[in-house]
Amino acid sequence: MAAMSKIAVVTGASQGLGFALVEGLAQRLDPSDVVYLTGRDVVRVQAAATRLASPRADVRAEVVDVCDGPAVDAFANELRARHGHVDIVFSNAAARLTRETPWAELVHPFVETNNIGTTRLLRALSPVLRPGGRLLVVASSLGSLRQLPPHLHGHFETDVMTLDGVDVTMLAWRDAVRTGRAAQLGWPDWINIPSKVGQVAAVRVLARDRRASDSMHGTLVAAVCPGLIDTAASRPWFEDMSAAQTPEDAAVALLRLALDPVVDPRFYGELIQLGRIVPWR
Ligand SMILES: NC(=O)c1ccc[n+]([C@@H]2O[C@H](COP(=O)([O-])OP(=O)(O)OC[C@H]3O[C@@H](n4cnc5c(N)ncnc54)[C@H](OP(=O)(O)O)[C@@H]3O)[C@@H](O)[C@H]2O)c1
Repeated sequence: MAAMSKIAVVTGASQGLGFALVEGLAQRLDPSDVVYLTGRDVVRVQAAATRLASPRADVRAEVVDVCDGPAVDAFANELRARHGHVDIVFSNAAARLTRETPWAELVHPFVETNNIGTTRLLRALSPVLRPGGRLLVVASSLGSLRQLPPHLHGHFETDVMTLDGVDVTMLAWRDAVRTGRAAQLGWPDWINIPSKVGQVAAVRVLARDRRASDSMHGTLVAAVCPGLIDTAASRPWFEDMSAAQTPEDAAVALLRLALDPVVDPRFYGELIQLGRIVPWR
């Protein structure tokens, strides 16, 4: 009997790491498999699809703006109607930080994309994930409670909170940044830190709720840390990028988690960097 086609989705795939993830999936999956190259802008997603070097799989460029709730839900429904399931999801879309704009202005689009966009995607696509599938959120090694002072840890009680609760925490922190109260409350100045902690918290909450059934099928829900990558997002923040990986190199370990038939069950619900768990506490 022919194997069922695999369906993969990458968000924020018009450039950077997301594009490299699509390229790797497209090279390694079969011609009967489908890889959705998604992003927020129709011209950029279509241009990205034309830049792919000799894809084996069927790559489809599609607009999915993770800030657009109805669009994300519609995409999940289309996946269900067209394929019945999805096998691999990389939640990778991210807004950039720039030096020129103050945090108080940047934090709203940043949280909308990187945090609310992530929980939105998790809610929409996790019910369509095929047993044995992989749902991976691209976070970073900053996504650990160890990056926050202890008095803030209570905002991320991932053993009991809901995904809505994670959103509430992130929106309250966003408002504190907007109104200049965040430093006084003890939040780190670098807004990427609470945001990445929030992404990993969302993964932990979803994984907690699904753990029993996912463990029976070898399904993996996890956050992943790609390490420093030379992209237009990171370049303005580092004088010396000589140690940074190319997006293609950074994609290798992430693709392994997505494509290896068996993964270490200890990775379930954790933040993974190069085959190791970054501790939450
Ligand atoms: N670069 C690093 O050193 C590094 C290190 C650790 C973790 N990471 C993480 O890796 C991920 C990718 O980073 P990167 O460096 O590749 O970033 P990037 O080059 O800025 O790419 C981000 C992608 O997200 C897309 N995007 C932005 N807003 C979106 C929205 N509302 N809906 C859908 N797509 C949207 C962008 O689309 P447009 O083309 O339309 O802008 C772009 O394709 C991020 O989660 C980042 O935090 C990166």
